[in-house]
Amino acid sequence: MKRIGLLGCGAIGTQIALAIDSGKVPATLTHVYDGSKEASASLVEKLKNKPTIVENSHLLSSNPIDIVVEAASQDAVKDVALSVLQNKKDLMIMSVGALLDESIYDILSDACKDFKKTIYLPSGAISGLDGIKSVKDELESITITTTKHPRSLKGAKFFESSEIDLDKIESSTIIFEGTAKEAVTLFPANINVAALLSLSGIGSENTSVKIVADPNTDKNTHHIEASGKFGKMTFIIENFPDPNNPKTSRLAILSGIETLRKYCSDEIQIGT
Ligand SMILES: NC(=O)c1ccc[n+]([C@@H]2O[C@H](COP(=O)([O-])OP(=O)(O)OC[C@H]3O[C@@H](n4cnc5c(N)ncnc54)[C@H](O)[C@@H]3O)[C@@H](O)[C@H]2O)c1
Repeated sequence: MKRIGLLGCGAIGTQIALAIDSGKVPATLTHVYDGSKEASASLVEKLKNKPTIVENSHLLSSNPIDIVVEAASQDAVKDVALSVLQNKKDLMIMSVGALLDESIYDILSDACKDFKKTIYLPSGAISGLDGIKSVKDELESITITTTKHPRSLKGAKFFESSEIDLDKIESSTIIFEGTAKEAVTLFPANINVAALLSLSGIGSENTSVKIVADPNTDKNTHHIEASGKFGKMTFIIENFPDPNNPKTSRLAILSGIETLRKYCSDEIQIGT
């Protein structure tokens, strides 16, 4: 059985831990850490098989585990990812936006080779990354339009310097248009999907992002269009937000669980 350390005990971390505890992911959750002691204690209380709460995030990978699962924040990735690989553990990252910083991407990519370890990035709140990866060399344009309820966008760095008042939006309104690189910086907790598309395809400067606030929607919708020599692909994903964190879609949680289940299982692997 694989042994797992979990960094981040919020909406995603909790559901991943419950999936391990119920046997859906054939593994043992041995250690957890969250910057909030309440969050880690409240998670452990929900589990039949109680993991140890460690005192800081670096202690996760100094224990005898196989993989650290990050479900915390971009800062957490910047802080611990390299030491996880140096400690010869695999890493699954949910806060994918952190990897659009090229120096971090390059350091982690080199560390994977040096320490012979793997970083897993689940497809998160979108589908279609298998196709995008396959046509990468023939891709000429890729755009994503993300539509969310204003409450799912609240607190983003973008609003510190914007005149837009989310509470006053009465109909579907485009609030941001730019590259994935800009989007991930200005909406770090909202648009990890743009980072995933960039990393699978033609990079964050060549991936166009539009963010729409719609007070009449109850879904997080992603409309992706990719075209090039191979032809054209269009994906529309209509996600229900997680009740515990409206910024996070249910699909993002389920994709994290499935990636981990695959990592922990010996079986036929389906899909590209
Ligand atoms: N890849 C995707 O498609 C996708 C989708 C949704 C969310 N996410 C990302 O996954 C991460 C977790 O999402 P969530 O919905 O569970 O968020 P959440 O806010 O519900 O939980 C995050 C938890 O991590 C803890 N935390 C934050 N920074 C930390 C740090 N540096 N060290 C230790 N603990 C820290 C917080 O205290 C909190 O308990 C976020 O970064 C989010 O942007 C990715």
